[in-house]
Amino acid sequence: MKIAISGKGGVGKSTVAAVLALMLAKRGVRVLALDCDPDANLAGALGFSAEEQAGIVPISHQVALIEERTGAKVKRYGQMFKLNPEVSDIADNYAALHKGVALLVLGAVEDGGGGCACPESVLIKALVTDLILYKDDALIMDMEAGVEHLGRATARGVNAMLVVVEPGQNSIECAQRIIKMTQQIGIKDLRFIANKVKDEADEKFIRDALAGHEIIEFIPYSEEIRKADRIGQSALDALPPEIAARFENILKKLS
Ligand SMILES: Nc1ncnc2c1ncn2[C@@H]1O[C@H](COP(=O)(O)OP(=O)(O)OP(=O)(O)O)[C@@H](O)[C@H]1O
Ligand SMILES: [Mg+2]
Repeated sequence: MKIAISGKGGVGKSTVAAVLALMLAKRGVRVLALDCDPDANLAGALGFSAEEQAGIVPISHQVALIEERTGAKVKRYGQMFKLNPEVSDIADNYAALHKGVALLVLGAVEDGGGGCACPESVLIKALVTDLILYKDDALIMDMEAGVEHLGRATARGVNAMLVVVEPGQNSIECAQRIIKMTQQIGIKDLRFIANKVKDEADEKFIRDALAGHEIIEFIPYSEEIRKADRIGQSALDALPPEIAARFENILKKLS
């Protein structure tokens, strides 16, 4: 199972990604969670301690690795580098482990403008393509709202793109942009998760706004989830059974 999770900032992408990843790992599935958001916060949602989080170095900051694999120096312009760097061992050797979930944080790449082709972005693109196309285990990608930066490999490789929405106009407008983008790059299986739903009016708002699209589950607004974030607990550990059942249902619908 390879899924990418997208949506507007703050809607709950990392929470959803973390809960699904931890649930799969609990079942004994090997899970690789990929934090593709430059403003990464998946580690926290997974329940890594602050100390562990501080020790995670995003791939885009691993200068020695980038230089070794691409044959080029970081931050030096006008050089030749390998366009197909070796990446097959990176998930096994560079991921941080927590409760059975292996986490790789890609990190931000400073865009040099005009389609950045710096060694960092070449390595990251090769890594994501390799993971998406060849890795058999579960792959859960926590994305930023844009999806085009990951290109067609994402379209070919992911089983589903999940868009998290919350009851609010901004989140829906962002979802509409994602719908357009995924159509352009050919992602067929696009589904929605409504999050932070407080009442029937919220539910109706989202149903109406996304008429014609599959909303696989409605996750209620939950003080327990917010509190877990505040105290640095994993979202899964905090879930009341009724909400956990809704996440289980998401997995069932995806498999
Ligand atoms: N169902 C929910 N009920 C209440 N709070 C929630 C719910 N889902 C997520 N949250 C809270 O909303 C906040 C944002 O969630 P999260 O970090 O998962 O969003 P995100 O989309 O990954 O954000 P970003 O775009 O900043 O990465 C967190 O404090 C989280 O605990
Ligand atoms: Mg996030």
